[in-house]
Amino acid sequence: MDVPGGTTAVTASGADWRVRDPDWWKTAVVYQVYIRSFADSDGDGLGDLEGLRRKLPHLSALGVDALWINPWYPSPMVDAGYDVADYRDIEPAFGTLADSERFLAETHAAGIRVLLDIVPNHTSSEHAWFVAALAGDPAARARYVFRPGRGPAGDEAPNNWQSSFGGPAWTRTKNPDGTPGDFYLHLFAPGQPDLDWSNPEVVAEFEDVLRFWFDRGVDGFRIDVAHGLVKAGGLPDAPDPTPGSNHSAPHPAWDQEGVHEIYRGWRRIADSYDPPRVFVGEIWAADAERLARYLRPDELQTAFQFDFLRAAFRSDVQRRVVDEATRTAAVVGAPSTWVLSNHDVVRHVTRYARSQPDGLVESSWDRARWSEEPADLDLGRTRGRAAVMLTLALPGTAYVYQGEELGLDEVEDIPSDLRQDPTWWQSGHTDPGRDGCRVPLPWSGDSSPFGFSPDGASRAPWLPQPAAWSALTAQAQEGVADSTLTLYREALGLRREHLTDAGALEWLDSPEGVLAFRRGGFSCHVNTGVDPVVLPAGRVLLASGPLPSADVLPRDTAVWLLAGTPAA
Ligand code: GLC
Repeated sequence: MDVPGGTTAVTASGADWRVRDPDWWKTAVVYQVYIRSFADSDGDGLGDLEGLRRKLPHLSALGVDALWINPWYPSPMVDAGYDVADYRDIEPAFGTLADSERFLAETHAAGIRVLLDIVPNHTSSEHAWFVAALAGDPAARARYVFRPGRGPAGDEAPNNWQSSFGGPAWTRTKNPDGTPGDFYLHLFAPGQPDLDWSNPEVVAEFEDVLRFWFDRGVDGFRIDVAHGLVKAGGLPDAPDPTPGSNHSAPHPAWDQEGVHEIYRGWRRIADSYDPPRVFVGEIWAADAERLARYLRPDELQTAFQFDFLRAAFRSDVQRRVVDEATRTAAVVGAPSTWVLSNHDVVRHVTRYARSQPDGLVESSWDRARWSEEPADLDLGRTRGRAAVMLTLALPGTAYVYQGEELGLDEVEDIPSDLRQDPTWWQSGHTDPGRDGCRVPLPWSGDSSPFGFSPDGASRAPWLPQPAAWSALTAQAQEGVADSTLTLYREALGLRREHLTDAGALEWLDSPEGVLAFRRGGFSCHVNTGVDPVVLPAGRVLLASGPLPSADVLPRDTAVWLLAGTPAA
């Protein structure tokens, strides 16, 4: 499934209608590429643009409409690229600007759109602006959040905020003469100083960065920490000092009114292009109504529905989340955006491999469970297959995180000395962090690097791959009727055929533990309970696991039915 260097990855035939449809994003399936773990073409153990380009046939065969690529800009990598040193270039370990242009052209020719990741809350501490700020340039300092310390000696942090990764959200600087200076704010790692969005120079800079990439044909952006750019005036102490430790609780750094004006400006820019460019916000809001405020007609087109990802594999919790999300999104006329996994949370196979909690949970809670309760990964995979059929049947857009189409699990036993996520260090080694969902993909072969790196690679993959993944490589699943890869391909094809214009969701009466809804003649049934249930009559389009007969749905299984035709 690779294309060698120098050839065109995929021809445009049959695919260009997708690129021309201006409403593509309302029903799209977007595949998240965590580039450093996708495919390594040069053997340095890190994924890169050329590796990704060569794998375009995999993505075409999967049937995705668009890619979202995690930050590919030059970065010291204290937070895997979310510390951007230059927003208008490519990280040398990933490739060059010319590589990105070739990649964009070939991806578009394959009928696949490209969303990039913009990181506006903070820069890298090695960004030219911050370097100038530390050197004492007043204009550069005014672009960040510097404050004097509190307390008689001025050596206490300006407020009680903690970093989302653990530890204080403030670091004290030294004056150019070596004496202790002001503190600067970093909601994440010390290498990620927060920008001051009340400064018009910051606003202008990011509008220019958007244009830079839109002019190169990029179709839109995922916005990192989109709810965090504006902080409450006066930077007051927070009741719960750690933003993100409980996403249902307010924080003075999160979801402030002023942030909406920024996105109105961004939307005007996106709409000035033909076709208009689109945004998806990473917004951890207290509830669905707060989230919907970002989706008003003159703001962002879409935002991830993270409550869905935080819900257990339980029909009551999932139904409540889907109800709230679709109701509130409909008020502002936006499509819902469903996601089961990403590079920040425990892979859903592993989340579903243990007893299922009652309500919504944070990923740090999931990560803490690994030493407390053994994971039944077969069960997790079975449920994961059912959950993705639920996700893909819902109205709106859906995101697929690389590797979930292979049924990958969270790697929970990465040795401590190989961990790279700053969460591990900053939490004082209490939270293992997010490395376990970022392990390089297994493409082929029987042992690591599983085709992630070429033969004779000079370095091992940047995180160790489990030996058990030999059974989960793309090669091992290719053409296998009941493989997870086959299920994803079939589901994406059937979704395009039956659900692109299927309309609103209507719940169906169903036994306890079962989620059932229809969209026109199509219906989806998911059994999260313990007993098998009887299915209504219909033609089985797809099932996530074996059905004992066409009218029985076993536990932990989903089925898509088409009404009006007798059971097959
Ligand atoms: C977002 C990213 C995460 C990153 C953080 C800081 O939450 O998804 O990976 O660490 O922002 O940029």
